[in-house]
Amino acid sequence: MRIDVLTLFPEMFESPLSYSILKRAQEQGIVAIAVTNIRDFTTDKYHKVDDKPYGGGPGMVMMPGPLFDCFEHVEKLAPHRGRVILLTPQGQRFNQAKARELAAEERLILIAGRYEGFDERIRIGLNAEQISIGDYVLNGGELAAMVVIDAVVRLLPGALGDEDSAKDDSFSVGANDHSPLLEYPQYTRPEVFRGMKVPDILLSGDHAKIAQWRCEQSLERTRQWRPDLLDAGDLGERR
Ligand code: ADE
Repeated sequence: MRIDVLTLFPEMFESPLSYSILKRAQEQGIVAIAVTNIRDFTTDKYHKVDDKPYGGGPGMVMMPGPLFDCFEHVEKLAPHRGRVILLTPQGQRFNQAKARELAAEERLILIAGRYEGFDERIRIGLNAEQISIGDYVLNGGELAAMVVIDAVVRLLPGALGDEDSAKDDSFSVGANDHSPLLEYPQYTRPEVFRGMKVPDILLSGDHAKIAQWRCEQSLERTRQWRPDLLDAGDLGERR
């Protein structure tokens, strides 16, 4: 997979992309991630990327010119256009199902905005879809783009050391093969820690019973902590 990011703050991406799974996935050629500075495509002497909104109002709006020029340059860096995504609180809510969907693409172009928003002609002209990572407003789309990259890359074949380790994650397809459930409780050594003991069943060696216990635990904690996930509407959307 190739992921391009268009941003005014490319340095923000350096650290998150330089550790652990994201680092290894790039080194192994599972994903290529290229970050391009939108400001490099300004033509005026002040390198202006934003301006006052027509009709008045607070804040500044990202101008279409530099962004279109930047996009048209980036688009040509690889043969497929892929999915073009604006990170904005107005977007469709990002979730595990969306991460799986994006992980199946050959290419993503993520556009991180700053200021009060994008000139509407950016969304329309680039025919971009919009993604939000939650119902709150960040100072820009950069952190949201990093969240999307992190969630997508770990789903790419070979990205995780153990091929199976994404399978049982929270929100992955759970017990009945249809429902996204929270993950079951995990334990490692020691067997007793500060008086708290690992459940006997996990020490029993009975794999069928362990699998069943984990299913029940997943269901129970989903019921208790995230009952919204069990709503029919939500199941439909995620599947
Ligand atoms: N930019 C600002 N807030 C955002 C959010 N919640 N999701 C995605 N992009 C954003």
